[in-house]
Amino acid sequence: MTVRSDFDQFYKLLIKDSIFEKKINPYSGIDSLQKFGTRKYVESGLSAPEQQLYSSFENNPGKALVIGCSSGRECVYLTKKGWKVLGIDYIEDLLKIGRNYAQQLGLNIECQNFDILKVEESSFSGKKFDFIAFTIYTLIYPKKKRQQILRVLRNHLTDKGKIVVICRGRDPEIRIKNRFLKTALKILKPSYEDGDYVRYISILHVFSEDELKEEVGLAGFCAKEFAAGDIYKYALLEKV
Ligand SMILES: C[S@@+](CC[C@H](N)C(=O)[O-])C[C@H]1O[C@@H](n2cnc3c(N)ncnc32)[C@H](O)[C@@H]1O
Repeated sequence: MTVRSDFDQFYKLLIKDSIFEKKINPYSGIDSLQKFGTRKYVESGLSAPEQQLYSSFENNPGKALVIGCSSGRECVYLTKKGWKVLGIDYIEDLLKIGRNYAQQLGLNIECQNFDILKVEESSFSGKKFDFIAFTIYTLIYPKKKRQQILRVLRNHLTDKGKIVVICRGRDPEIRIKNRFLKTALKILKPSYEDGDYVRYISILHVFSEDELKEEVGLAGFCAKEFAAGDIYKYALLEKV
């Protein structure tokens, strides 16, 4: 990354939380509905890396939770495989579209409006899941918050349950390299962590494999397998 794009990230990371975050939800706009809300997208199935990770367990259907389900791409896929699926998302318009498609396809999918940042032990009426697709792990920050959510989800997971998390987005290795800008950022924004970056108006975190292993390890999980495509990278977690 050049100093110029480092500076661009420095600037965006500094103003992001204070100016944009509380006012604009990047998933509430028309772009998001057009991207995630089409029937073609919803029925597009899994990407190659997702398929690689799901293949070890998908043919043993049980109860699944899809976090950040949008209009239901993963929900539709899993339900067709015999899973009983609960999809959660905090954008009601996307959920509405998802419920409609499920009905048209004759699939029984439960979709709930829920913000995963607010998850607690009493969420999901004490249900245990055999699989959790945590499709927005990379969007949660800081590390402490991700770990807190993982610890709660651990108690909502059966002993042999599995979680698939997304751990890298469209920009494979965006990290601020310039030491001066990094130090300044850490002083001006103490919540900044190496690997955080802004894409459009979302803050994301990009993980190295070692970093993810260490982070999930402290929350009681082991990262068993990684799978990467051209764009996204995922990890399969199991309880330790
Ligand atoms: C990138 S889209 C992914 C959609 C879908 N999982 C897929 O891959 O096809 C992210 C979705 O997560 C939802 N989302 C983001 N933050 C969330 C949160 N804190 N709680 C619940 N849903 C959230 C957004 O509304 C959006 O629909």
